[in-house]
Amino acid sequence: MLTGAGISAESGVPTFRDAGGLWEGHRVEDVATPEAFERDPDTVHRFYDARRRALARVEPNPAHEALARLERAMGDDLLVVTQNVDDLHERAGSRRVLHMHGDLLTARCTRCDARSPVAADLIERPPCPECGERMLRPDVVWFGEMPYDLDEIDEALLACDAFAAIGTSGAVYPAAGFVMSAASFGARTIELNLAASEITPLFEDVRHGPASVVVPVWVDELLASHG
Ligand code: OAD
Repeated sequence: MLTGAGISAESGVPTFRDAGGLWEGHRVEDVATPEAFERDPDTVHRFYDARRRALARVEPNPAHEALARLERAMGDDLLVVTQNVDDLHERAGSRRVLHMHGDLLTARCTRCDARSPVAADLIERPPCPECGERMLRPDVVWFGEMPYDLDEIDEALLACDAFAAIGTSGAVYPAAGFVMSAASFGARTIELNLAASEITPLFEDVRHGPASVVVPVWVDELLASHG
């Protein structure tokens, strides 16, 4: 299962490419590249500090909750790979979650590479709990950087019987290519998204509508058909 910003939209977390999305108000090359961070770290910190603060004011929605319910029924047979840096899957109760684009609530030390929970806005330059240097960066994957956990994700794509993509535009690789890999290894594929995405034609089955509606219906059908 792959999720994107669309699953958190109804919780009040802005998506990237929709009208009013994050990439409308900010240029990727100003806030989401290693070069931007080198050139103007304060602007980058302000962007992620604001997004982290906003997370405190949102809650998981019925789509996150439905996936947690599915995991309770399927156990280790369900893996959620998310492109989201929010923690709404975990707050809804999902346990097997890989954050391939990183996590807003952790920081990474640019000196010793240790990851640590963010205790204060990073623009304040809090010290790394490991080495003490005040050189933390957001633990998010920027354009031009390698996403996390790709080996584990590849193994899951190879082994899975079914692959679902929820709330993602299919604009960013490698995530946008997962449906092709899963299908080529024999998995059934389904897209659940508000509207057609760039990769809709690659899916066998497609359901359009708000995630908070279509995901719980789909999960209930799966649970009913598997007893
Ligand atoms: P996008 O903003 O590109 O796409 C969001 C998708 O969610 C769109 O296809 C919308 O139609 C859909 N959507 C919006 N509201 C929805 C709702 N209520 N229910 C269901 N679907 C809805 O976000 P992502 O695909 O997650 O990467 O973007 C992928 C990556 O691009 C992000 O992880 C981020 C971004 O740049 C990095 O920063 C590395």
